[in-house]
Amino acid sequence: MTKKSNKAKQPPQLLRGMKDILPADQAAWLWLRQVVKDMAESYGFKRLDTPIMEAESLFSRTIGESSDIVNKEMFTFTDRGGGKVSLRPENTASFARAYIEHGFVNQPQPVKLYYFGPQFRYDRPQAGRYRQFFQFGFESFGDKNPVNDAQMIQLAHALLSYELKLPISLQVNSIGDKECRPNYIKTLTEYYKSRKNALCENCRERLPVNPLRLLDCKEKDCQELASGAPQIVDHLCEECRDHFVLLLEYLDELEIGYELNPRLVRGLDYYTKTVFEIWPADDPNGSQSALGGGGRYDDLIELLGGHSVPAVGFAVGAERIINQLAKVKIDPPAVPAPEVFLAQLGEKGRKRSLKLFEEMRRGGIRVMECLSKESIKAQLEVANRLNCVFSLILGQKEIMDDTVLIRDMENGIQEVVDFTKVIPEIKKRLEKYRTKHVKLDNNVPADQEQNKEEQKNE
Ligand code: HAM
Repeated sequence: MTKKSNKAKQPPQLLRGMKDILPADQAAWLWLRQVVKDMAESYGFKRLDTPIMEAESLFSRTIGESSDIVNKEMFTFTDRGGGKVSLRPENTASFARAYIEHGFVNQPQPVKLYYFGPQFRYDRPQAGRYRQFFQFGFESFGDKNPVNDAQMIQLAHALLSYELKLPISLQVNSIGDKECRPNYIKTLTEYYKSRKNALCENCRERLPVNPLRLLDCKEKDCQELASGAPQIVDHLCEECRDHFVLLLEYLDELEIGYELNPRLVRGLDYYTKTVFEIWPADDPNGSQSALGGGGRYDDLIELLGGHSVPAVGFAVGAERIINQLAKVKIDPPAVPAPEVFLAQLGEKGRKRSLKLFEEMRRGGIRVMECLSKESIKAQLEVANRLNCVFSLILGQKEIMDDTVLIRDMENGIQEVVDFTKVIPEIKKRLEKYRTKHVKLDNNVPADQEQNKEEQKNE
């Protein structure tokens, strides 16, 4: 046998850095999607879905030619028409494109939009770092007031900390704007130039291209240098300083704890003024394992050829949230279990069950079946395992008599009912069962409750 045919027989495997979301993990994902949707609706954000592929230039122009994302991490290729396209490494640039393309500028501002979708970065795979990962994010276009920055942080905080109960640490900084940043960059470059020999190779190369990024280098020597570097907050122009001070006042008012982090610069070029990240609380790796990040990007729409439209937003890595929930042992809420089990015998029973199942489902009954099992005993074992309240049995006799056997799974009592009456009958019984159990759950003994009911009716 040749080497080639051996290879052809190997089962296919996931691409490196890609991940299947297995059925066992779906409860947490569904919960996260639901929380994001509910929060978006509460805060007045509308959903926008953009394609996973865009022109490469959209990302290189906005995220920055010198950024790691554009330089090293994009899935870029030439399509059959000769166009240079990329799988989106993030969603903000696509939203800015869509904002311009669909004339959102003519709608009442701010235009508040959100997403939940896959992103692609050719990153070195490791824990919490994938080549396809999901982000959810919120973007608000058209208002420059720092109250919008505060509300974004409030939303991120409420979603992660209050709704999902994750312990988090909020890092904030301001990186100024095109007025004040160039001067700061000059000061920062001078600082680093005179200490160039102490820098790691990567930082030495980066210094003339993107000196800001030297501040968040993870090498020990570079970190030491960064802690003594001039801080941008001391070099902000009046407008940026006022903006930042107001933002911090809003956060204080909201009683949201934050850490002022002068080395937080973010890895994307489009930011102006506010930047923030959300880290797992007590994580020494900080920005390496950030749960989310964002900030203001007042020049992005104009950069892409639109009007001058200020904007602010953030994105969160869904896998990192799912991993973190598991790490701190937070379970998603339990999904409602089936209440009724449908058991059948023989071909005729199976045909009837198939139809009855859908009719019950349409009637709002949470029903489960096991059409592939033959014996009633084996099926009732499944019903028991699922903790179903009732089982409906369609045996040979029931098929002949046009009836169904209702079995109370708690006490094993069985009763025959007409096939045509089974749905209203089971609904009635479920109603009774639920009322009894709600009372029991509330710690009120059922008979005491019943006495009260009877007294009320007299
Ligand atoms: P980002 O910081 O590049 O910002 O990504 C946001 C979050 O996506 C990160 O904090 C992290 O949780 C997650 N993430 C990033 N890369 C990976 C990866 N390779 N594997 C798993 N998760 C990852 C942005 O993307 C900006 N668009 C955020 C933004 C929105 N700024 C303004 N609006």
